[in-house]
Amino acid sequence: MNQDYIIPNEWSIIEDGFHKDHVTASESIFSIGNGAMGQRANFEENYSGDTFQGSYIGGIYYPDKTRVGWWKNGYPEYFAKVLNAPNWIGINVNINGISLDLNTCKVYEFERELNMKEGVLTRSFIAELSNGNQLKIFATRFLSLDFNEAGAIKYSITPINFSGEIEFIPYIDAGIVNEDSNYDEYFWDILQIEEQKNEAYILSKTYKTEFHVCTGMKVGFALNDYEIILDKETEKTEKSIAFKYKTNVKQGDTLSIYKYGGYTQSMNHPKENLIFALEKVLQKVAIIGFDNLLQKQKEAWAKIWETADITIEGDVKAQQAIRFNIFQLNQTYLGEDSRLNIGPKGFTGEKYGGSTYWDTEAYCIPFYMSTKDKHVAKNLLLYRYNQLDKAIENAGKLGFNSGAALYPMVTMNGEECHNEWEITFEEIHRNGSMIYAIYNYVNYTGDYSYIPEFGMEVMIAVARFWQQRATFSKAKDKFVILGVTGPNEYENNINNNWYTNYLAKWCIDYALENLQVLKADYKADYQRIIEKTKFSKNNFDAMKNVADNMYFPFSEKEDVFLQQDGFLDKELIPVDQLEKSERPINQKWSWDRILRSPYIKQADVLQGIYFFENEFDTKTIKKHFDFYEPLTVHESSLSPCVHSIIASKIGMNNKAYEMYLRTSRLDLDDYNHEVHEGLHITSMAGTWLSIVQGFGGMRNFDNVLSFNPQIPKEWKSYSFKIDYRGSTLKVYKSHSECKFTNESELPVPVFVNGEEKIISKDELVIIS
Ligand code: BGC
Repeated sequence: MNQDYIIPNEWSIIEDGFHKDHVTASESIFSIGNGAMGQRANFEENYSGDTFQGSYIGGIYYPDKTRVGWWKNGYPEYFAKVLNAPNWIGINVNINGISLDLNTCKVYEFERELNMKEGVLTRSFIAELSNGNQLKIFATRFLSLDFNEAGAIKYSITPINFSGEIEFIPYIDAGIVNEDSNYDEYFWDILQIEEQKNEAYILSKTYKTEFHVCTGMKVGFALNDYEIILDKETEKTEKSIAFKYKTNVKQGDTLSIYKYGGYTQSMNHPKENLIFALEKVLQKVAIIGFDNLLQKQKEAWAKIWETADITIEGDVKAQQAIRFNIFQLNQTYLGEDSRLNIGPKGFTGEKYGGSTYWDTEAYCIPFYMSTKDKHVAKNLLLYRYNQLDKAIENAGKLGFNSGAALYPMVTMNGEECHNEWEITFEEIHRNGSMIYAIYNYVNYTGDYSYIPEFGMEVMIAVARFWQQRATFSKAKDKFVILGVTGPNEYENNINNNWYTNYLAKWCIDYALENLQVLKADYKADYQRIIEKTKFSKNNFDAMKNVADNMYFPFSEKEDVFLQQDGFLDKELIPVDQLEKSERPINQKWSWDRILRSPYIKQADVLQGIYFFENEFDTKTIKKHFDFYEPLTVHESSLSPCVHSIIASKIGMNNKAYEMYLRTSRLDLDDYNHEVHEGLHITSMAGTWLSIVQGFGGMRNFDNVLSFNPQIPKEWKSYSFKIDYRGSTLKVYKSHSECKFTNESELPVPVFVNGEEKIISKDELVIIS
């Protein structure tokens, strides 16, 4: 049974009633972030029950020494982890000397709401303590989009049936650890703890990586919303600082604490200035004040929603889910800093180390490209461009040469830090998605300048890798790629994974094609790049030879491309014939059994067909879907979206909807029973794709933007907007009509259901 305690609501995620069993799940679901930092929805006050504490700062990581049973040459020395950062949200509360702790007191009327429209988390409840004292608590918290180094909390208490002493103990604590630390190491070195009137700062640095971070808090008080001053006492430990404020409060009066807090860090400030810089930030937000800051927060989120929102009429759970996905993506990455990226768990948990995967290029870029200005997607591409030297070094460590690059499967700074051999060494298809993302960007935005300025160098380096990684098979009289793991990680060390071979050939062809364009039209860039990369005619010929003679496994009998050599030797029993108790197979079966089975973790051949759909006719696409989907267990969060999009394309509407539900409410309904570990941020972009490319049928091949809108029977209508080459296009689809509106100056040429339309400024085009 999946979890079902989240109340359906169009704009909010709501927990009604206190669900003790779901505290860690809720901490993930109600997470907040502002692109620069984020935190799980831990309670401000002490909680003695099961909880998973987490605050994270974008870009701050620790190289946790690799832990494996059997060391293999070439393994990365460490796994880069985004660190659990010092906690600034804590406010312990004592009422007449009794600690407020939801694990030990009686809790009534508990409600928690994540208002996605405004980017605000609230929590209210009535607590009854062991002495019978009842009090009403209301807490509001947000991480500011305007000042992305700061967050704010207003925490109010009203005694219901007594008058008595309330003590607030706001604190900051740098004594935190990562639950997933390999050697139970402590990652933070505390350098300085500084106290001022109602402010405190802890300067710390990470061991090894030496990121310096200042964590701070500034507090103030109000009684019935009128500012009051309270005396404080200070309590310090080696790693934390707490202030204690006590006062008597009459029954029915409301005492509030305002706490502003956050981080400054050495990626953005000289390390000597970090305390001073944070003082300035916290002073500024305190002067603006909680209510005004909150108002600014609402306005900033309104701006994001203006283009990013998708509306769904007639299905409130679907509406809630798509907004949740869009909201979490924006909380994770806003695109202004090319040193940051999108970890599969964002700022909501430790798993996957907060590092960058191929998920960004394969899934997230289209979302950011269509819902934000193009510089955002460009920043994601530049992230990889800036790590090209490391990718060349990485390939060098594995024996490749002459500027061949292998981008890492998992990285924080460009170095590979994944240490399962079948993924680190073999899951090389990720290299192709770097080039696919460049193609996607240029094709969608029309900004070709990216290729001469940056992209060409990456393409040459990746094409070199493929040329060297392919070997010639005399038996087949073709180039083959041996010993790989495809996107389907339930097969290791296989030969000729169709997807990898296809992508390798495509990468080389695309690189060579663009070299020709540069040679003809961007002569100075061409010259610079040829010299920088020492690219020769021999290189060109060798690459072309590999691409022209690449081998693709194919079955005449089944008339499908084979996932890999020998795939048909498996017992091809469809997934629906497996006992329910056997699934998920990654939790129920031994690894060797999984490897021998035909079961597919996520789209593999179908991932290629999705990327290069324009190269296959619908009949071929359907044949491959019919062959592979029944063998797919969708045990990666990245799987259902690709299947939903293809199912829409081939008219399998029920399947498309089933897969859509699975991707969109994966975390809200906890399909995989793991939401307590954090949210699946990167697959959320897949949910967006399932609507826009799936139901909306948006495609963008060869500089042509097209739509083929359909609507699930369960919905009344849906609408989405895209930013396309500087214009904002709104698409609305109901069962009876489809409307396109151009909300900007430039006319937009589109194909709708195969027919060309030019949509001019403010024009409404209705297609029945
Ligand atoms: C998937 C990978 C993905 C990773 C991070 C794995 O389960 O198989 O394709 O990159 O998760 O999301």
